[in-house]
Amino acid sequence: MDKSEAKKRVDKLRSEINHHRYLYHVLDRQELSDAAFDSLKNQLAKLEDEFPDLITPDSPTQRVGGKALAKFKKVDHRLRMLSLNDAFTVEELAQWEERLRRLEPRLKLEYFAELKVDGFAISLEYENALLVRASTRGDGATGEDVTENVKTVESVPLSLVGDIERISRVSRDIREILRQFPRVAKAVKNLPQRLEMRGEIYMTRAAFDAANREQKKKGLLPYANPRNIAAGSVRQLDPKVAASRKLDFLAYDLVTDLGLETHEEEHLAAKALGFKTVDLTRTCGDLGGVVDFWRAVAKKRDKLPYLIDGIVVQINRTADFEKLGVVGKAPRGAMAFKFEAEEGTTVLRDIIVQVGRTGVLTPVAVMDPVLIGGVTVSRATLHNQDEIERLGVKIGDTVIVKRAGDVIPAVTGVIEKLRPRGARAFHMPSKCPICGSKVIKKEGEVAYRCSNSRCAAVQRERIYHFVSRGAFDIQGLGPKIVDVLLDQGLIRDAADLFSLKKEDIAILERFGERSADNLIRAIAERKKVTLPRFIFALGIQHVGEETAIDLAKHFGDLPALARASMDELTAVRDVGAVVASSIQDWFQDSRHRALLAKLKEVGVRPQAEVRGAAPQALGGKTFVLTGSLRTMTRDEAKRKIRDRGGAVSGSVSSRTDYVVVGEDPGSKLTEAERLRVKTVSERDFLKLLG
Ligand code: IVH
Repeated sequence: MDKSEAKKRVDKLRSEINHHRYLYHVLDRQELSDAAFDSLKNQLAKLEDEFPDLITPDSPTQRVGGKALAKFKKVDHRLRMLSLNDAFTVEELAQWEERLRRLEPRLKLEYFAELKVDGFAISLEYENALLVRASTRGDGATGEDVTENVKTVESVPLSLVGDIERISRVSRDIREILRQFPRVAKAVKNLPQRLEMRGEIYMTRAAFDAANREQKKKGLLPYANPRNIAAGSVRQLDPKVAASRKLDFLAYDLVTDLGLETHEEEHLAAKALGFKTVDLTRTCGDLGGVVDFWRAVAKKRDKLPYLIDGIVVQINRTADFEKLGVVGKAPRGAMAFKFEAEEGTTVLRDIIVQVGRTGVLTPVAVMDPVLIGGVTVSRATLHNQDEIERLGVKIGDTVIVKRAGDVIPAVTGVIEKLRPRGARAFHMPSKCPICGSKVIKKEGEVAYRCSNSRCAAVQRERIYHFVSRGAFDIQGLGPKIVDVLLDQGLIRDAADLFSLKKEDIAILERFGERSADNLIRAIAERKKVTLPRFIFALGIQHVGEETAIDLAKHFGDLPALARASMDELTAVRDVGAVVASSIQDWFQDSRHRALLAKLKEVGVRPQAEVRGAAPQALGGKTFVLTGSLRTMTRDEAKRKIRDRGGAVSGSVSSRTDYVVVGEDPGSKLTEAERLRVKTVSERDFLKLLG
């Protein structure tokens, strides 16, 4: 390929890559697979390698981040980077308006409100439409040059030219803006030589969760919040670090005067220039509208893809905003209208240890319930031993608890002055609280793990079994939710289910007030479970549903079963030496005894009588099932028989009363015919059930 051909190809590739970058990183639309996108970038990189003088500063290849710096250059901001004053209540907001009215009685105040993203402020400078510099706020007057890091953020445009037409082709929104706001259309077509845009670098919840999963895998400390990673990544001397993190940028402040008259127009211009902007905004004729918006946003807050800590309200008309001026470090014409602090203090009563899916031991704080951001919190993660040491927290301390959106609450500080006498230090146990195996810690890792690789899985499976249909049969509680509860440290064993509170669950993903209520109710209903179900739920090896029923009938209550001798056990139908010793072993294990005690403590009471809602129509009758039934599963059929006092057996004998014959019956039908046992069709069976 000669150079002129290469140039054509390079131009095409760049425009294609940039187009898909925009779709994906700004508009959240994907039209090309990741692999195809990467291959376009590779082709471009190869050509640029071959023809280095074709490289331009806005080429997509320039986003990778160059060499690590020794230190950041200082940048003097042409216009100070200000911050905002805060209001937390409607009253405080009204007082602000009052002050503005007193200051400028003649202004007709109109407001523009948008989300306040919880990230890190950055200023971007473009010259001849090319990004030439990105800087941090610093002290407001002087910041640091972090261009190389910020270039790695894909939603930051490296160039503003040529984009408008292309963008308006893919975004209907932007076509509309350009049509409805001629001043915006004109402004973006005649860009000045220099343009400065400010906004927030942030990390989405999804990227944050992914980053923390990575940390955990590596046995490293989790990040406290997305803002810390965003700030930390931008202020790394090695741009590779920023490149490896999925950062994002939202523009909110067009510093350069493009002849626009309102903040709303500036917001639209930013969007038309190819920047990502906040989707949720409102222009309000009065403060009432702002308050409505604030309330509406508060409701949606947990569902947004990124964390926000309030809304930003400003005087919409640019001229009025300017006229109001600056006091201290903040403009008079703007306010951060924040949400209730999601932090509270409470007393730490205990630290328990939860074993996660990967066998990692996580200390969980058990606290007096406290209302944080409208949610009652009684448990919070302490992450790991290092974090406990860093915080210097002791059992009995008054602690600061933070909750961010639907992230698990965490203990973030200790008020040492309030430490009571006798506060206890916490130590990681040397044995796994679940299986009793040795706890190990690998060199260089923060995490403590259970040395038994099956431990966490076994524990999980036990709880799945405990709540399953044949056991406690808790409506709406399947393995997925059990996983969430375990992973969030809300339960460690089945008994913990019964002390869950609605508030613990309502903040979890996939839950709301109503579904949390339903689950709590379903769990509470099961405190009175039948004895056979209770015995089956314990997961004793070799004790299936049928044996559990026989054991319940024979012993009548749990204590009798627990202290039964081998002889007493083997006297039960179908119980041989293997089953009997398995039962004895189970009850001898101190962890199992502790579980039973805990179940009792939380109010679980096995009911000796098999009291079904239905009359005992099948009392004393033994059934065998063969073939598949159309109207119910086999487990359902078994349960229905038992609920009516009947028994189910796996094989036909002379003692069998009925063989229920479904579709495709097996050898049991032949056997029934041979032994002249009565056979019934599904229809007759349904009649028998009533
Ligand atoms: S306007 C004078 N709009 O919040 C500063 N700021 O607490 C103009 N922030 O420094 C700020 N989202 O870092 C504005 N939509 C938004 C924002 C926003 C987040 C940050 C920004 C600012 C800080 C003030």
